[in-house]
Parts: sequence; C-alpha cells; structure tokens
Amino acid sequence: MPVITVNDGEAVFECRDGDNLLRAGLRAGVGLPYECGVGACGCCRGEVVEGQVDDLWPEAPGLSARDRRKGRVLTCQSRPQDDVRLHLQLDAHAVPVIRPLRRTVRLAAVRDVTHDIREFVFQADAPADFLPGQYAFLALPGVPRERAYSMANLPNEAGEWHFRIRRVAGGEATGTLFDHLAPGATAQLDGPYGLAHLRPDSPRDIVCIAGGSGLAPMLSVARGAAAHPALAGRRLDFFYGGRTPADVCGEAELASLPGYGAQVRYHAAVSDPAAAEAARWPGAVGPVHELVERTLGERLDAAEFYLAGPPPMVEALQQLLQVTHRIAPERIHFDRFF
Ligand code: FES
Repeated sequence: MPVITVNDGEAVFECRDGDNLLRAGLRAGVGLPYECGVGACGCCRGEVVEGQVDDLWPEAPGLSARDRRKGRVLTCQSRPQDDVRLHLQLDAHAVPVIRPLRRTVRLAAVRDVTHDIREFVFQADAPADFLPGQYAFLALPGVPRERAYSMANLPNEAGEWHFRIRRVAGGEATGTLFDHLAPGATAQLDGPYGLAHLRPDSPRDIVCIAGGSGLAPMLSVARGAAAHPALAGRRLDFFYGGRTPADVCGEAELASLPGYGAQVRYHAAVSDPAAAEAARWPGAVGPVHELVERTLGERLDAAEFYLAGPPPMVEALQQLLQVTHRIAPERIHFDRFF
C-alpha cells in the first residue's frame, strides 16, 4: 500500500487501492485542506516533491495551467502510483470529526419534492453517521464517476441517508437516478465529507440560505439545530431562492420543526419577475440575497450563516456578507463546488 508523507513527516498515512490522496488522508484523520472533493474549488492544492501520482482529471478547473507548470496537484484528483512525499498546509479545521468510510447502500424509497427535485432514501447496514450539512459521494451503477450529494436528514441509528437531488438536463448521474434506479438497487456511498456543517457551539442566531438542490444540506442544518439541546429556542431564519414559484420548496419541512412561526421562520424569493407575475406569486421577487438583507436588517451583523446553492447565489451572498457587512469568514459556512 502506498505510504504518503506530508511535510517531511508532519503526517504519514497509507493510501488504499483506488483511493485518492485526499480521501485516504481524511480516512486516517489527517487535516488535508478541501471543500468540494471533486476537482472544482482548488482548495486541496499541494505539491508532490517525491513519487508519482495519476491525475484523475487533467482538465479539473481547480488547478490553473500555472499550477500544473509548477508541479502542483489536486489531492482530490491524485492517485499515488507508489510512496509519495507531499507538501501542503495542513488545516486543523479539516480534521474530520467523523472519519469517512465506503459502504454499500440500497435504494429504499423515492419521492418527488418539486417538478425537478426528488428525494432518494438509501439504506445502509450500519448507522448513518455524519454532521448536519455534510455530503457524501455516490457511485451509481453504470456511471463512471462518483457524484457528491448532501444529506437532507439527520444522522440516525437506522442507517438512512436522504438526498434531495435536482435533475440535470442530459446529466448522466441524475439520468440514472431519476430514470433507471429502482428501489432495491445498490450503490456505493463514501462519506461523510464537508466542512459546512452545523456549529452548535456558536452563540449566534442561525441563518440558512438555500437555492436549487442546496435545500438538502440547509434542511439538515435546520433540523440539526432544532434537535440540538444547546440550540433550543435559538432564532433560525431559513431563506430559499428559486427562479420561479414552482421551484420554491422547503417550507413544509420547516413547518414541522418546533418553534415554527416563532423563533423558526421561513422566507422565500423568486428571481424571475415574469414567472412570479404569471403565477401570481404573493411573496418577494428578486435575488434571495436582497431578501436576506431586507428581512434581517441589523440582525444580519450578529448571525452565523450557512449557505448552499448555485454559484451566482453564493457569490452574491459572499459579496453581501463579507464585503458589504464585513462579516468574518469564520461565521459563513459553505462548501464551494465551483
Ligand atoms: Fe479538491 Fe475542491 S477539494 S478541488
């Protein structure tokens, strides 16, 4: 088994057959920096100073041509051929609270959430152990590459992993999930991963902001907050941004949480004015970040933020929170998938 040595011995771990450097390190409890795990964000960059790795995705957007010329690699896209010595900055925040594992799961149930989002419930033989807001990789039959999906439920002894997945037009993985995978089918699940999980130690009010299939991790965070004894009675504002009224979802799930309508509030915005008018949408119209700013007012400066959604939504929120309101990055939690 290849042995990976980081920073001349600051960490040493073995890499099992088929694993990439990032996942092998996290399985060993090493704080390798990362966010997406799929080659998109560039957070896992490092330098191979000795040994050879296979580049699993030579065109990965997380690495620039300059990075490649300098011999840098993405640990999430590198599989060692033999022992490797690696240089990168370890991150104490990335040390996994729960070490990720691969397991076989069985599709137990499916349910439509909106016209293009469906909930898939996978069943494992062992308890489903993760933190609210994290994600897992699913390897689906006949689909060459794994996909990362966030859990919508809470960790549980029953071994259930709930995913809310949006159909991607022409998408290979969602085509398989929506059109070919019947209950009883098996898949491989590897997880949990992700750093944008609920922080119960924070004394601040909680704000969850979701768009698209970002609903899943934000529901998990909201459910986790509602179930955590240290957060009982804490104010939680949940925002959802959709393009049309038909895209808006999540309110029914929030309504089942204790304190709904009092300390737990749901707010939705629709960004397409023509669609809003055609459907006589009674709520807010415009980008969700504008609704966040309008609704929270001064409370915005004293909250803990969890974000998940399409890149333009997350970028607009970063601009609002970090640039306009100077909120410290430690109070804004999201995993960058772009
Ligand atoms: Fe490797 Fe995002 S974690 S590119």
